[in-house]
Amino acid sequence: MYTLEEIDRILAKFAKLQNINREPANLYDPLDYMMAIGGKRIRPKLCLLACNLLREDLDKDVIFPAMALEVFHEFTLIHDDIMDRSDTRRGCPTVYKKWNEEIAILSGDAMSILSYKYLACAPKEILPQALDLFSTTALQVCEGQQYDMDFESLPFITMDDYLMMIGLKTAVLLACSAKMGALLGGAGAGTAQALYDFGYQLGIAFQITDDYLDTFGNEKVFGKKIGGDIVNNKKTWLLVECIRRASAAQKLELDRLMRMDGETCRDEKVGAVRELYVNLGVKAAAEQEILVWHRKAMAALAGAGIAPERLSQIKLFAEELIHREK
Ligand code: IPE
Ligand code: IPE
Ligand code: MG
Ligand code: MG
Ligand code: MG
Repeated sequence: MYTLEEIDRILAKFAKLQNINREPANLYDPLDYMMAIGGKRIRPKLCLLACNLLREDLDKDVIFPAMALEVFHEFTLIHDDIMDRSDTRRGCPTVYKKWNEEIAILSGDAMSILSYKYLACAPKEILPQALDLFSTTALQVCEGQQYDMDFESLPFITMDDYLMMIGLKTAVLLACSAKMGALLGGAGAGTAQALYDFGYQLGIAFQITDDYLDTFGNEKVFGKKIGGDIVNNKKTWLLVECIRRASAAQKLELDRLMRMDGETCRDEKVGAVRELYVNLGVKAAAEQEILVWHRKAMAALAGAGIAPERLSQIKLFAEELIHREK
């Protein structure tokens, strides 16, 4: 079995080798840039970890499909940063800031296409199933992203609406990553579904952590500008829970803050909302909620029918994911 560190190294090496460096530079440079500034690569990592639960070798026929998940994810980030008006990612300027919006749209499209090219390297026996899983997931991510944007202009949403939205924009891709690994490892339907559920619940914990860090993280470590969600009136776990806990007067105050222009009054808006989160116990509640979803994920993993002694690395991965600072 591979350790988490070994899998990390395999993926880092692969990302380096994939430098495209082709013409026209304005189409391909942003791809190389995203790969080079490299994120955590949690999706391909999860895919390879799941695969390695079932098969010993991790050759090109599984590394390429695993990287398809990363390339697809990076495409969504390039477009997400335009949609969310975000200037920094991974501690660097976002693609649309470094180049421009037109370039970010087209290089994002190219990345989405490239992800299918990578996926097509999956073994023939599982390719139809892998393609179906991947395309279904990709469409769901688009649905989630649309809900995320639609919700910006609503005064409030329910916790169920929130879970539906993050289930689509984030959790399904982690679920797909784990299940893809299972398929590549030759898993039966029961194990593949259990790993899907594991990835999904971990994905919910992951997005709540992302929401948390967007408000309470350390900008230098997190690599994204803190407070962006508050500025954009994003319906994060923190905001939904805050509205649930607020008194009538606090609801009015929140409403006033959400009408405030986040660009001109950034510090005031972010500071006041953050204070409400702390005072209403929302910050502490988010920390607990992340653990709840982590536990659900662990239960799904325990039901996957894998010998417990093989689970150490994937458990370590899940643990690191919820205690992350970036
Ligand atoms: C950011 O994903 C987008 C979310 C779904 C929260 P990551 O936190 O995995 O971003 P990178 O790839 O490590 O930069
Ligand atoms: C992003 O959610 C989900 C996708 C990119 C599909 P966020 O908008 O919260 O991600 P960050 O915080 O910009 O990374
Ligand atoms: Mg977004
Ligand atoms: Mg964003
Ligand atoms: Mg975020």
